[in-house]
Amino acid sequence: MPHRRRTVYATLFATLLGVAVLAAAAGLATVYLGLYNVAASEQHFKPVYQLLESAMHQSVKLRARSSVDEPPPFTETMALRGAGCYRDQCLQCHGGPGVAQGDIGKSMQPVPGPLVDAARRWSTKEMYWLTRHGIRMSGMPAWEHRLDEEELWSTVAFLQRLPDLDVAAFKAITLEQVDAARSAGTIATCGAARMAAAPPAMGNAVLGRQALYQHACNACHMIPGVTGPETHVGPSLAGFALRSNIAGVLPHTADNLERWLREPQAVKPGTAMPAMGLSPADARHIAAYLAGLK
Ligand code: HEC
Ligand code: HEC
Repeated sequence: MPHRRRTVYATLFATLLGVAVLAAAAGLATVYLGLYNVAASEQHFKPVYQLLESAMHQSVKLRARSSVDEPPPFTETMALRGAGCYRDQCLQCHGGPGVAQGDIGKSMQPVPGPLVDAARRWSTKEMYWLTRHGIRMSGMPAWEHRLDEEELWSTVAFLQRLPDLDVAAFKAITLEQVDAARSAGTIATCGAARMAAAPPAMGNAVLGRQALYQHACNACHMIPGVTGPETHVGPSLAGFALRSNIAGVLPHTADNLERWLREPQAVKPGTAMPAMGLSPADARHIAAYLAGLK
């Protein structure tokens, strides 16, 4: 290689390296000196906001394309069931035609927008993916451990109906029609199906691990394999499989563990461990995961 060209390459390399080091230093300073303001009372800078929005959109599109099955045919009953789920679970953050969101939804950053036009911006599969998996670090919860498969699609069926509903029609369907159909037994209360469904014969530890952080167990317990804050509100679950009793009151068997997980207050009245609203299936999956903590 001629000497001159070598010098040009060396200079180019040194410049790029310099820029990379400076960028890394600026990034680290922003993080460790606390320069980035995380207050929810401040907005993102416009470029940061746009970058996050684009990343979110592309991520949803990619995953919805590859992982969501074809939707079932939508029926009137599904739309009505979805209207009930929307009223119970989504209205507080997203509001609806003529209905403001609750205080939680109003003051969140990013603000959960109205879903009136969601069906214009997202495909059916994308709306299902968003509802099932949520959006991490935005405050949009994942609903797959609260709603069953039929309810997830029913909610999407309702979101598709939403652009055509005026204020009066929205009120009529989410209030009167849902209540009437629930008292007549045509549709069930949202989430009731999951709680009533029999658990699978065998728990699945992979689903159990997900259920652990979807039910906020890691807010109080340190759990090997589950990322979460350093917390000592409840005992660490490391080595739990080897323990001979549960919470000092029950012999450690699989059945007793599921019972404890679903109704700790009934097993040990006054215990600081709250009932977390686990479905029988989630309790079985979590028990399968805990059985591996040796
Ligand atoms: C605790 C508040 C909260 C609840 C409850 C909630 N969401 Fe969200 N949702 C959000 C936030 C925050 C976003 C993200 C907004 C953003 O990034 O611009 C969001 C975004 C969405 C989006 C993408 C919206 C868009 O226009 O890009 C959909 C679809 C959605 N939510 C559906 C639902 C459904 C269906 C329910 C009820 C089953 C629900 N959400 C309940 C907070 C919530
Ligand atoms: C608000 C805090 C809190 C949450 C949330 C919580 N726990 Fe607990 N948990 C506790 C406390 C406190 C104890 C100790 C109870 C006692 O001994 O009376 C406990 C005890 C337990 C035990 C028995 C531990 C032992 O050493 O015997 C298990 C297992 C357990 N929790 C699992 C879970 C799972 C799974 C979840 C999520 C579905 C969960 N916990 C959610 C606070 C919590």
